[in-house]
Formats: sequence, C-alpha cells, structure tokens
Amino acid sequence: MTNLHPDLARVIISAEEIEARVAGLAVEIETDYADVERVILVGILKGAFIFLADLARELQIPHIVDFMAVSSYGKTATSTGAVRLVLDLREPIENEHVILVEDIVDTGHTLNYLYHTLQMRNPASIRTCALTRKDRDALNIPVDYLGFEIPDVWVVGYGLDYADKHRTLPYVAELKPEAYTK
Ligand code: PRP
Repeated sequence: MTNLHPDLARVIISAEEIEARVAGLAVEIETDYADVERVILVGILKGAFIFLADLARELQIPHIVDFMAVSSYGKTATSTGAVRLVLDLREPIENEHVILVEDIVDTGHTLNYLYHTLQMRNPASIRTCALTRKDRDALNIPVDYLGFEIPDVWVVGYGLDYADKHRTLPYVAELKPEAYTK
C-alpha cells in the first residue's frame, strides 16, 4: 500500500475485500428476510455510518435506515461496560424486523446493551450485523451477520477511529501502538 499514513502499521482489510464481503452480507440478509415486508437497519453512530451506507445500498429488499448513538465509559478490561444512550431511534420498532448494524464488536458491551434495549420494545425480530469482531469479545455476543474476525489490535478506517482520526479511510488498518500511547 502506497502512502500509508505514518500512524498506521498495516492494512488489515482492503477496500476490495470489504466491498466483496459487504455484498456477501447483503445476499445473506436478503435470503433470510425475503418474505418480510421490510427491515429496519439501525446504525450505531458514529462508527457504523460508512458500513451501513454501503450495506443499505447493496440490499435488494425493502428497508429503512435509522440510527442510535451511545456513550461508553472506558474500554479497558476492568471497565464496567456502562453504556448511556445519547441518541434514540426516530421511529417505534414494535412488530418490525430490526437489524443492529455495528462497525466493530470489541468488548461486546455496546451491542449487548442495545440488543436488550431494543428487545424491550417488542420488535418482530432483532438480529445483529457487524463488519468486524475482535477475538477479545468477552461477552460472546452472537453476531448473526459478521464481516471479519480481527485480531485484538487498535483498528481504524471504514468508520473506525482513533480520537476521531482516520475514520474515513477506505480500508481497515492497524494503528501503530506509538500512535495511541504517545
Ligand atoms: C465503537 C464502535 C462500537 C463500540 C464497540 O464506538 O463503533 O459502537 O465502540 O465497542 P464495545 O464492543 O467494546 O462496546 P465508540 O464508542 O468508539 O464511538 P464511535 O463509534 O462514535 O467512534
């Protein structure tokens, strides 16, 4: 890869690999929801906005897009995983088929919190879709539609950030440790 930013160690998932996998995920979803009236894709801000935009445009079944945002308190192994809702859905989801769309499942706390929050609103069904999942997902959150398993390193690009940097790179790359410890 030419012109890799000096903060980045290597590309983990190329733009071409992402494009192919997103198309594959869309086919999986289309197959599973072929008989439903519509699906509600719920993107978790900010990270999911690029993945959701590409996935939604691939999806050849009726769907609408909505968003949620949360604030989490710390990402260390000893953090409580407390999550606070800062932006809620615009529409009710009762009797709707919901797919939660994430860029990454790291500790699993965010998806776990959102899954249970939305389940209380009586959707017809709720499933999860994530572009990436780290192998340290301690909660073992089931991801129904998973793009890639990735190693436990800091990754940026395609929606993922470090302090809001590198979020709009077209690929997923590993951040050099010195870029986040300095
Ligand atoms: C990231 C990511 C997920 C969450 C996953 O969001 O977008 O929502 O962390 O981590 P977890 O599995 O440990 O809960 P972040 O809090 O960095 O906010 P952002 O998406 O706005 O960058």
